[in-house]
Amino acid sequence: MSKLTQKQLDSHWMPYTGNREFKRDPRIIASADGCFYKDDQGRDIFDGLSGLWTCGLGHNVARINEAVAQQVKTLDYSPAFQFGHEKSFQLAEKITEFMPPELNRIFFTGSGSESVDTALKVARAYWRKKGKGTKTKFIGRAKGYHGAGVSGFSVGGIPANRTLYGQGLDSYHLPHTQAPGTEFTQGMSDVGAERADALLDLITMHDASNIAAVIVEPMSGSAGVIIPPQGYLQRLRDICDQHDILLVFDEVITAFGRMGANTGSEAFGVTPDIITMAKQVTNGVIPMGAVAFKEEIYDTFMEQGGPDYMLELPHGYTYSAHPVACAAGLASLAEIQEQGLVEQVRNNSRYWEEVVHSLRSSSELITDIRNYGYAAGITIAAPDGQPARRPYEVAMEMWAKGFYVRYGGDTIQLAPPFIAEREELDRMINALGESFGKL
Ligand SMILES: Cc1ncc(COP(=O)(O)O)c(C=O)c1O
Repeated sequence: MSKLTQKQLDSHWMPYTGNREFKRDPRIIASADGCFYKDDQGRDIFDGLSGLWTCGLGHNVARINEAVAQQVKTLDYSPAFQFGHEKSFQLAEKITEFMPPELNRIFFTGSGSESVDTALKVARAYWRKKGKGTKTKFIGRAKGYHGAGVSGFSVGGIPANRTLYGQGLDSYHLPHTQAPGTEFTQGMSDVGAERADALLDLITMHDASNIAAVIVEPMSGSAGVIIPPQGYLQRLRDICDQHDILLVFDEVITAFGRMGANTGSEAFGVTPDIITMAKQVTNGVIPMGAVAFKEEIYDTFMEQGGPDYMLELPHGYTYSAHPVACAAGLASLAEIQEQGLVEQVRNNSRYWEEVVHSLRSSSELITDIRNYGYAAGITIAAPDGQPARRPYEVAMEMWAKGFYVRYGGDTIQLAPPFIAEREELDRMINALGESFGKL
């Protein structure tokens, strides 16, 4: 049992957590190094989701630690508005090395949710600047996750994240891309691109003159790793181009290597107008998000900004471009580049695909397995309308065995650190196979 008192446990209302269940038998993580956590009992726990898709480099990375320690001593905080510090400009340039070349203007935020807010606000403001102020509606997608803010839950498409919260932004949703008959596809399916055509129906219904942007994750992560069918994202791109609608890729999970590419955009060969990112930018060490915009979007604001002492975009956060986060980001991204981790994920992703799909035989209750890069989602048949129960049971069994995997809805999600050895992946997969076998 944890050393925490009941009062301490009760005091913290934990996010996206079954608080009552957790506080009965807390799972307390005490430290982390490489691909492993240690819990408060001193047990080693393999990090099967790289934190929350954040820590591809593993934990306790000396270069990031040193950069953070040095930065705290040199400049711990610096006002985010009207004044600057060197590292934010250096990090912005470094991020552009990972982004499609056209998306070379970087706005900093404090999280993925703030990045989504920023992207959507800028999309509306952009159209206003262009004299098209009626373009305010957003199109998201069923099963999409875009963070916990009001804009994020509005365009998001996971029902449980929406039902409690009432009216959000004026948003509509494309169907998701899990086509029946594509279960157990390895990588991208060649079926389902036509689901992008639902955008044409939404345009007919609402008119492009009222639609600001379409936002999708190139690969949906939180809903259980849903891979875009071949041709789907390009079809969305084409329709957006034909109707003057901005296309936003929410790459909070997919940017910086997870897909075996610099971005999901690069992996799937489609360039959006705006990319949101967070998580891996600092390897999760310090909260930070960012948004990459096409230069033309930035220029539109600069050209119409009024006198140059005026704000071109009245938007930003106290912690935008926080100097300690920037130091962590510079160290983290340099480490990804110098260790060749994007290529490493790409090279190992075929192996990952094989071992993940080998789980199919471990239980008849597994109804689908999906994978791309270093990500995988496994769907488990739901008993009596309780979709989340079996994944929860599997994740708890895995925790008892010394592995952290994420459960959400009817899926188990896996996203090992980029640096994980094959034998570590094998051990996690073997343990999962045993856990599935017990269902
Ligand atoms: C695609 C996507 N967008 C946005 C977010 C929200 O990020 P944050 O939790 O940092 O606000 C997440 C978090 O999982 C995400 O996966």
